[in-house]
Amino acid sequence: MRPTVDGVVGLARAAGEILMRHFGRLLTVEKKGARDLVSAADRESEAYIVDALRRSFPGHGIVAEESAAQVISSGPAWIVDPLDGTTNFVYGIPQFAVSIAFVQDGLPQLSCVLNPASGECYTAERGAGAWSGQERLRVRTEERLSEALLATGFAYRLEELEDDNTEHWRRMSRESRGLRRFGAAALDLAWVAAGRFDGFWEWQLAPWDVAAGALLVSEAGGVVTDRRGGQEWLFGRSIVAANSTLHAELLRVLGQPIRPV
Ligand code: IPD
Ligand code: CA
Ligand code: CA
Repeated sequence: MRPTVDGVVGLARAAGEILMRHFGRLLTVEKKGARDLVSAADRESEAYIVDALRRSFPGHGIVAEESAAQVISSGPAWIVDPLDGTTNFVYGIPQFAVSIAFVQDGLPQLSCVLNPASGECYTAERGAGAWSGQERLRVRTEERLSEALLATGFAYRLEELEDDNTEHWRRMSRESRGLRRFGAAALDLAWVAAGRFDGFWEWQLAPWDVAAGALLVSEAGGVVTDRRGGQEWLFGRSIVAANSTLHAELLRVLGQPIRPV
């Protein structure tokens, strides 16, 4: 069977229904780290998606946050975040997503980012554009950083990092129109594709946070790179996304040396 956008959307919607059965109820939450939470909703959503993928595509690799974290650089594979925005979910904040990407030799080919709480569903297919239902997505055309609304996020294990993104936050807050930290990287990228944000950057994200959303941005006419302007954004733990002119501006500011905290 060949992966299709409709198939990926069906999978995301079924996983989204699982999440919505838990959303707003008192959840048993475990800690993977001091700030990094996981709930039964994450696990049930992932078990459903992984089981369905194994049955439909037995030869394909699977990289999924709660059970199958690994690096896959060749062949067909699926990269799955069963619940992106777990902290929002646990607090009853309706900004979370199911994020699924099909990749071939490390390059995303098909993707879906679904917010089951709002019903907003974003899809992309390499070479065929990014869509929200019948609406074709386009990144914003703003080229001036001073007029740009940007999104970012912060890693859970901040204290272990030499660059915890707070210095970039400070700089960008002075140079841009404004910053947002909404807590679900897959939706941040989807919203760059949909023209709600002018750009996005974040460090320490995992492949399941970015695989689907990055394809949305590039198919919406944007540029996606790692923090050095290279192509190591999937497994390289840094991502910068915007239209091409603004993207160069973001790299200029983000590339300036960090002052020791
Ligand atoms: C997190 C979210 C958040 C980002 C974190 C991610 P999770 O994913 O995408 O926006 O800042 O770094 O780990 O844990 O909710 O799936
Ligand atoms: Ca995530
Ligand atoms: Ca997750």
